[in-house]
Amino acid sequence: MAIERTLSIIKPDAVAKNVIGKIYSRFEDNGLKVIAAKLAWLSPQEAGEFYAVHKERPFYKDLVSFMTSGPVMIQALEGENAIAKNRELMGATDPKKADPGTIRADFAESIDANAVHGSDGEDTAKVEIGFFFPAMSVYSGR
Ligand code: CMP
Repeated sequence: MAIERTLSIIKPDAVAKNVIGKIYSRFEDNGLKVIAAKLAWLSPQEAGEFYAVHKERPFYKDLVSFMTSGPVMIQALEGENAIAKNRELMGATDPKKADPGTIRADFAESIDANAVHGSDGEDTAKVEIGFFFPAMSVYSGR
């Protein structure tokens, strides 16, 4: 299996619930290493640009508004199959459909306030990590 990197965001709802550490434990207990991290309060411009792929979707405005409603914890994760592994740990986008024991099933309330974001593929992961972290701020666990 390939060692991959993925971008993860702990969203304002989960930061407000004070569960950053609990979510980090899920990553660490499942072989994912934090190789870059920062707490940030995104501007509407930053959130809008980050989610530009969803610009035409009906939920875009609410998404940007929610993602700028409070601080977020942003991290790059590294590990075997990191992209799929992180998505498995997060569970379905809609917490009501997320498998029991996943981050969204345990910590999220709604499809908008869904606790975490994770890159959905290799190309996206590269772009999303680069969006928040210059190469010199990423410290490989290997
Ligand atoms: P995320 O993985 O951060 O990517 C885009 C976000 O848009 C998604 O999580 C949800 O929080 C939010 N969203 C709101 N409505 C929808 C929807 N109908 N389909 C997909 N994502 C949605």
